[in-house]
Amino acid sequence: MTVTFDTDMPDKIRFAIVGYGNIGRRHAEHIQHNSSTELVAVCDINPAVKELIPGIAFYTRLEDMLAAGNADVLCICTPNYLHEPHTIAGLQAGLHTVVEKPMALSVAECDRMIAAANSAGKIIFAVKQNRYNPPVQAVKELITGNGLGHTYMIQVNCFWNRGDAYYAESNWRGKKDKDGGCLFTQFSHFVDIMYYLNGRITSAEGWVHNFAHRHNTEVEDTGSFVLKGINDSIINFNFTTCSYEKNMEGSITLFGEKGTVKIGGQYLNTIEYQQLKDATLPLINISAKANNYGLYQGSMSNHDKLIQNVVDVLHHGKPIMTSAEDGREVVNIIQMMYAGAIKV
Ligand SMILES: NC(=O)c1ccc[n+]([C@@H]2O[C@H](COP(=O)([O-])OP(=O)(O)OC[C@H]3O[C@@H](n4cnc5c(N)ncnc54)[C@H](O)[C@@H]3O)[C@@H](O)[C@H]2O)c1
Repeated sequence: MTVTFDTDMPDKIRFAIVGYGNIGRRHAEHIQHNSSTELVAVCDINPAVKELIPGIAFYTRLEDMLAAGNADVLCICTPNYLHEPHTIAGLQAGLHTVVEKPMALSVAECDRMIAAANSAGKIIFAVKQNRYNPPVQAVKELITGNGLGHTYMIQVNCFWNRGDAYYAESNWRGKKDKDGGCLFTQFSHFVDIMYYLNGRITSAEGWVHNFAHRHNTEVEDTGSFVLKGINDSIINFNFTTCSYEKNMEGSITLFGEKGTVKIGGQYLNTIEYQQLKDATLPLINISAKANNYGLYQGSMSNHDKLIQNVVDVLHHGKPIMTSAEDGREVVNIIQMMYAGAIKV
């Protein structure tokens, strides 16, 4: 992990946000609640957003917000296909950037973003807030301390529901070139936690199909993959957005030499099963902390912790929780999965 800090940062780090939809509003809330950060500007192409942020400078064009030059960090909360141009624009204007998941829609885009960060001498923070989930942290510590031994097999289950209202809410969702598919938009968190706990993958093959969303999406809604981990583990990765009427499960089960552990619940929020040789994990069951967007429920709500990580890095030189290289690796795995998929 890169360790860095920025001596030019003011005591209150000034944030700007581009894209003030579901997740942009979540960033704003946590920036405004953190005593070391303030929200100074918001940009959204929807002029109605201005009414939602009284007292905050509002722009409909990103270049105008960047030209005003009053922010230190830009949060990129626009649709997936805009992450690359908006991140590069922020970096070139001299801002550190926090880019929502997925980092971008291809490795080539991620590489251009990383090159722009390097030449600007600024940081890209990739958003992967599920790393902060207490069950994920407990299993990460177990693995780091060699408490699982060699990992033999992993089962990842992502069984969520995304209905018509979700796709009607925003015109980029479900579009191949703007959204990219379920592995980018819904399940990149699970790809990230698989990678965070077990490392890179060396091959991927599987099947995808659009069963129930053909009338409003251009991408698959269901898939099943077998991946090979760099440590020779065999990984089953199953996903669907067709779980009837509501999210059912978001889980990762690891079968290792020294034990079996399942991080479960709907969004990696519980330790659902453990049988371990040398350790006992705390019984974690956090039920009330999902990001609730009204029409649908997402991942665990940890954006307060990611804003705090930006402060810790820029003020105190602490490690970045999820680097641009991590964000790129998640995109690389997703790209490998889609390249290895047969459409059925
Ligand atoms: N970390 C998480 O758990 C999480 C959860 C939800 C969404 N996301 C990610 O956040 C991003 C946004 O998702 P969302 O659900 O908030 O989408 P959304 O459609 O609700 O919001 C997107 C906003 O961006 C604005 N916008 C579009 N083009 C713009 C442009 N050129 N300039 C300025 N503003 C523009 C739209 O008007 C809209 O207000 C996506 O990349 C998504 O994958 C992450």
